[in-house]
Amino acid sequence: MKISVVDGVNARLSFAVCAAAFGSAFQHGYNLGVINAPLTLIEDWMNTTSYERSEEYITQTEQTMITSWIVSIYCIGGMVGGGLTGFFSERYGRKGGLLLNNITAISAAIFFGFCKMASSWEMIIIGRFLIGINNGLNAGLAPMYLSEIAPTTLRGAIGTVYQLVVTISILFSQVMGLESLLGTEDLWPILLALTILPAIFQLCTLPICPESPKFLLINKEKRIEAQRALSWLRDSSNIHEELEEMQNEAEAQKLVPRVSLREILTNPALRIPLVIAMMMMIAQQLSGINAAIFFSVKIYEQAGLNEDESLYATIAMGTMNVLMTFVSLVLVEKAGRKTLHAHWFVRHDDRYYSSYLVSRSPVRIS
Ligand SMILES: *[C@@H]1O[C@H](CO)[C@@H](O)[C@H](O)[C@H]1NC(C)=O
Repeated sequence: MKISVVDGVNARLSFAVCAAAFGSAFQHGYNLGVINAPLTLIEDWMNTTSYERSEEYITQTEQTMITSWIVSIYCIGGMVGGGLTGFFSERYGRKGGLLLNNITAISAAIFFGFCKMASSWEMIIIGRFLIGINNGLNAGLAPMYLSEIAPTTLRGAIGTVYQLVVTISILFSQVMGLESLLGTEDLWPILLALTILPAIFQLCTLPICPESPKFLLINKEKRIEAQRALSWLRDSSNIHEELEEMQNEAEAQKLVPRVSLREILTNPALRIPLVIAMMMMIAQQLSGINAAIFFSVKIYEQAGLNEDESLYATIAMGTMNVLMTFVSLVLVEKAGRKTLHAHWFVRHDDRYYSSYLVSRSPVRIS
């Protein structure tokens, strides 16, 4: 019996999806986009702060250096967070990991909120590092949780929720950066600190939701708890078939050999998947989209637009990003991944692609 898409949806599942997606994907997209608009304001503030601190104005070189650190230490944090995903998801579970991760978001928000008061741009750098860790972890944990709580029929659709919310929240952060909202000399610390809201939202909603039933069943081997979690999510006690299916899937996976990182690099049979995966990542980075997401306001200003026009052009770019994500979500089912990928990888999450490739390669990566 095939369950229709609408049948799989219920209020509890939707609640859990929102708790994970808004609390995590929103956090991710917001911080990708938020630094773009207030960058010039922050630079001016650094100059006056430098004068207050040492009676000397900042030099152009120092200013560029500090700004670059503020923007890019986020990516270093992202790498750290991404690297911790495996550990967190096994040790604390998907839900537990997501909940714990809010500590980094709240600490970051505190550093952002008080940096101006403390006349310290170092605090912005620390905050950006922390929120980078947060986003790296979210990018791993949230899609994992989402795909594991989704019924098979909805897995694809729910899997794309994360990406969609990321692009929408990039746009949201750009809009909030407008001068009429929070993009002013006094309010930019609040613009950055707003990242505390998705954390609070998640801390209020996610504890009500159960841990991933798949994690409970397969990693923890707690059948009763898995059963309870699944029946909460499906809002039904008729879940034995699905639980069985989950168990079988796990058993089948155990037969697939686990591969170490070293083997990935040395096993000739894995060379082609490895090259494809790397090409996807490299191509996405070389498309330059991240530079545009971080610096478009400055780029437009240097191209001759005034401050307002640059902000609006950035918002137009963010809107396009959201629209094209919708288009690609529809097209990807119709036209296929490979045909589309020239467009597809321009904005899509690294993780989505790697998991897509991994799920189709003949081995499981440990
Ligand atoms: C810092 O402010 C001073 C005084 O307003 C100005 O002359 C100088 O160009 C500024 N420096 C930078 C790097 O913006």
